[in-house]
Amino acid sequence: MIRKSKQTDLEKIAELMHESFSSEVESNLVRKLFSGEDILVNLVYQSQDQILGNVIISKTKMYPDVGLFCVGVGPLAVRPSHQFKGIGSQLMKAAIIECSNLGVDALFVLGDPNYYKRFSFEVSKISSDYNAANFQELQLKSNCLSDLQAKISYADAFSVV
Ligand SMILES: CC(C)(COP(=O)(O)OP(=O)(O)OC[C@H]1O[C@@H](n2cnc3c(N)ncnc32)[C@H](O)[C@@H]1OP(=O)(O)O)[C@@H](O)C(=O)NCCC(=O)NCCS
Repeated sequence: MIRKSKQTDLEKIAELMHESFSSEVESNLVRKLFSGEDILVNLVYQSQDQILGNVIISKTKMYPDVGLFCVGVGPLAVRPSHQFKGIGSQLMKAAIIECSNLGVDALFVLGDPNYYKRFSFEVSKISSDYNAANFQELQLKSNCLSDLQAKISYADAFSVV
């Protein structure tokens, strides 16, 4: 089942990130995000007492501030033993619905377009410090990013990991 994560899930989520990415970068990132105020959506996929997947969506900053409510996806991870069973897709779909309910105008993600295109993400033309080929957007408010001259950056936690 998918549920909102709690502060007490932090250690299990950090362990999941470490296992899924084979690195401490994402587990450290999760700790920083949990200790800050930038998380908007944080969902886990739980089976019995095990956390098998997690997606975090956090606030972004846009320069200039054009009044859009934009958020960044990440990290998204599923425990290696349970990948390719649809858990990542279920988490992403639930997170997108949650964002829509919260009035988000657009989501951004840095990741493989071959994965995120299934959720209708497209390579973004918005300026950022991230790899342009892998930086993607999903407009929930139609055309809100069209012809926009702006630069976007993720929450501070992402720049200090
Ligand atoms: C990427 C990830 C979250 C996907 O979750 P999942 O539950 O395994 O994925 P799903 O079962 O929902 O979807 C499986 C599909 O995604 C594809 N897929 C899985 N990982 C992928 C990746 N890294 N890049 C591209 N496609 C990927 C599979 O080929 C499969 O495609 P198909 O539906 O055409 O057969 C998971 O594999 C993971 O945690 N990977 C390690 C961490 C990571 O890379 N996170 C993403 C950072 S942007």
